Amino acid sequence: MTSTPRVDAAGDVADRALAQAGVRRVEWAAREMPVLRQIRERFAQQRPLAGVRVAACLHVTSETANLMLALRDGGADVRLAASNPLSTQDEVAAALAVEYAIPTFAIKGEDNPTYFRHLAATVEHAPQLTLDDGADLVALLHRERLDLLAGVVAGTEETTTGVVRLRALAAEGKLAYPIVAVNEADTKHMFDNRYGTGQSTLDGITRATNILLAGKTLVVCGYGWCGKGVASRARGMGAQVIVTEVQPLRALEAIMDGFRVMPIVEAARHGDIFVTVTGDINVIDVAAFDVMRSGAVLANSGHFDAEINLAALTGMTEGRRTLRPFVDEYTLGDGREIVVLADGRLVNLGAAEGHPASVMDMSFANQALCVEHLTREHATLAPGVYDVPKTIDEEVATLKLASMGVHIDTLTEEQERYMRSWELGTH
Ligand code: ADE
Repeated sequence: MTSTPRVDAAGDVADRALAQAGVRRVEWAAREMPVLRQIRERFAQQRPLAGVRVAACLHVTSETANLMLALRDGGADVRLAASNPLSTQDEVAAALAVEYAIPTFAIKGEDNPTYFRHLAATVEHAPQLTLDDGADLVALLHRERLDLLAGVVAGTEETTTGVVRLRALAAEGKLAYPIVAVNEADTKHMFDNRYGTGQSTLDGITRATNILLAGKTLVVCGYGWCGKGVASRARGMGAQVIVTEVQPLRALEAIMDGFRVMPIVEAARHGDIFVTVTGDINVIDVAAFDVMRSGAVLANSGHFDAEINLAALTGMTEGRRTLRPFVDEYTLGDGREIVVLADGRLVNLGAAEGHPASVMDMSFANQALCVEHLTREHATLAPGVYDVPKTIDEEVATLKLASMGVHIDTLTEEQERYMRSWELGTH
């Protein structure tokens, strides 16, 4: 891993000529992001982030661009790097760097040294706030840029995997500043992780392969919010779904939701398509590869490319060829063919466009409001991992409902009183 910044401070993107196409994509996404739009308009008037230096490490998509514009309009001095080597939308990166004047360091398909160089470039303006998706930026600051760490006052983290890493860093007593776990907001994980990952994962698989899901057996590894989404959407498209889990409670939930549950080595015999969404390492390993049917398709939708043991699969492989973009066939010694999508990186962002804008609207509204909250309150917070303030979560839900034209009931005074009292029981 190298972090020597060797890139232009104005940004490093694949092709600056793509900027106009990127602007059109960003504007298209904005139509489905009414909550973030309202926040952006308020930020433009009130400038709550005036002069705050922000380093963001997020998937560089049209939705992320809208978040960057909200922060910029709030007065922040923002820089952005990709949070995954394969998730960048090159048009959007060009639009950010050229049209919106936000230094952006992201090229789809960049190699790992470039990925880390880009990460390093985002902190060259000595950020006061960090926005992370997977905690690579926080790891960089804590490992290699201790000189900058004292100047960082707070941060946010977007995803489950990042929150797990941050809690591990905090448990070792090494986390140097307060970070709000945006993932833990109800208006984030209940919608983004479930419906976003559910839809975009199947979108990635079908765009890459064009295979029919109806009638296939699809194995979902992990039944957290993401796994629930993938399983329910796959069933909706006619697949027979098997779930693998390690947590008894989640396994029980999957059973009662109507799915078959079994260990991965058993599921491996049945599956046509496998999707990992556990956040852990080597979830599909040699014992599973050994018994898979020829033609099995493997995809990962967890944050890192660690869930399918590709090194072991490569060790079993005699020939490998790319059949279509993001579709690689591994021919094993015994003649079986195993197909891996998007190099085992997150298939929804590698082979498709990530979650739709409408769901990112809530995730990024939380991000924007948490950045505002941290700008105001950071001095009151010790280093640690914090939940999103309930008021922010509720504000995002309220604004989203309003944007959908949905009205709901409110408690009467009598009902409020009843909920606060113990006197009234059986009539
Ligand atoms: N994570 C999942 N989908 C995303 C998207 N569309 N933009 C940014 N981050 C994402």
